[in-house]
Amino acid sequence: MKMKTKAALLVAPIALCAGAALAADAPANWSQHCASCHGKDGSGSTTMGKKLGVKDYRDAKVQAEFDDAKAAQVIKDGVAEGGKTKMKPFKDKLSDEEIKALVAYVRSLKK
Ligand code: HEC
Repeated sequence: MKMKTKAALLVAPIALCAGAALAADAPANWSQHCASCHGKDGSGSTTMGKKLGVKDYRDAKVQAEFDDAKAAQVIKDGVAEGGKTKMKPFKDKLSDEEIKALVAYVRSLKK
């Protein structure tokens, strides 16, 4: 009985880790790394988003302002204006695959 409880306690963290690895997909990355500024829905209507002048990515006109390559480059290298970082670079945090998936995710936010 005692052994079984121990085994269950050991298994739980492993299951949680597997969950975290699986969650490394675009919607999860968006919520974790991007939504604080860009909003869950891409509208940019967050406190940070408004302060930084984030655009509304639900708007087709805004989506047309950048192509996929530019979006990927911005996600990698970030956005700086007048020597101030507005969006930090994510190239050390996210793989090329994850960035590609995020570009597609940004596109899917268009209404
Ligand atoms: C600290 C706030 C902040 C975070 C966090 C952030 N961004 Fe940005 N992002 C900005 C700002 C500011 C701009 C420039 C204004 C704009 O184009 O909306 C921008 C621009 C962009 C652009 C437009 C590029 C262009 O050429 O117009 C894309 C795409 C983008 N971000 C994606 C992301 C993704 C994906 C993440 C998460 C991995 C992310 N951002 C995280 C603030 C942020």
